[in-house]
Amino acid sequence: MFHPSGPTLKDLTLQALSSTEHGYDLLAPRFDLTPFRTPDAIVQGVVDVSMRGGPVNSAIDVCCGTGAGLVGLRPHVTGALVGLDFSAGMLAEAERAAARVGGATFVKADVLTHPFAPQFELATCFGALGHFRTRDQAKFVAQVHAMLLPGGRFVFATAERVPITSRTWWLYRGFNAVMRARNAVLRPPFIMYYLNFLLPRATRVLTAAGFDVDVQHGAIAAPYDRYVVVVATKR
Ligand SMILES: C[S@@+](CC[C@H](N)C(=O)[O-])C[C@H]1O[C@@H](n2cnc3c(N)ncnc32)[C@H](O)[C@@H]1O
Repeated sequence: MFHPSGPTLKDLTLQALSSTEHGYDLLAPRFDLTPFRTPDAIVQGVVDVSMRGGPVNSAIDVCCGTGAGLVGLRPHVTGALVGLDFSAGMLAEAERAAARVGGATFVKADVLTHPFAPQFELATCFGALGHFRTRDQAKFVAQVHAMLLPGGRFVFATAERVPITSRTWWLYRGFNAVMRARNAVLRPPFIMYYLNFLLPRATRVLTAAGFDVDVQHGAIAAPYDRYVVVVATKR
């Protein structure tokens, strides 16, 4: 659909009929040929903002997928760099990608029940915020908070708002409606809802969880400059 060697419509349908975890296992070998892999310009903008104070000693990329964020982070992390994801297939691809730039450590876990004590200076998350239902967002943010050291930062990109008059709004809201209908009748669910962690909501959820929120505009290059970088610092 997106690339001659990429997944077909049938592949994407099979993915959406699986659980989120198994869907990504199926997609993993060709995930980097889809638009779902976070573009380098977005990774770079988040990394640039994260490293304004210099390199960090420890970092984790939550929902690391095939490793887009880890590859960007690797040169700026002096100690432990961890990729967390619940798809074994995605982790296998990430391991290969990270090996080419100096390596990382990988943990297969659901971020909502992860095993980490507070130990990271930095946590990032790329392209996966839609995988948490609105009702699970507070738990997701609390879990990221729990893995950070005091003063540690959770840094990610999101859109400030998407106007209801835009094509994007209707496209994504349409997708969400289909996903809700699918999840009402099929088990296990495939959790993916667009536009559900835009800046106003993200700020509310992060603040309630014990983060101070700062927003950086203009950090991400065109054509992705509609995204802002959120820096949430653990109080
Ligand atoms: C759209 S991909 C993004 C991958 C990568 N971060 C990127 O930007 O290219 C979403 C990833 O989140 C992972 N994921 C979704 N929900 C998760 C959860 N609750 N715990 C751990 N990983 C999760 C999926 O397995 C998948 O690898």
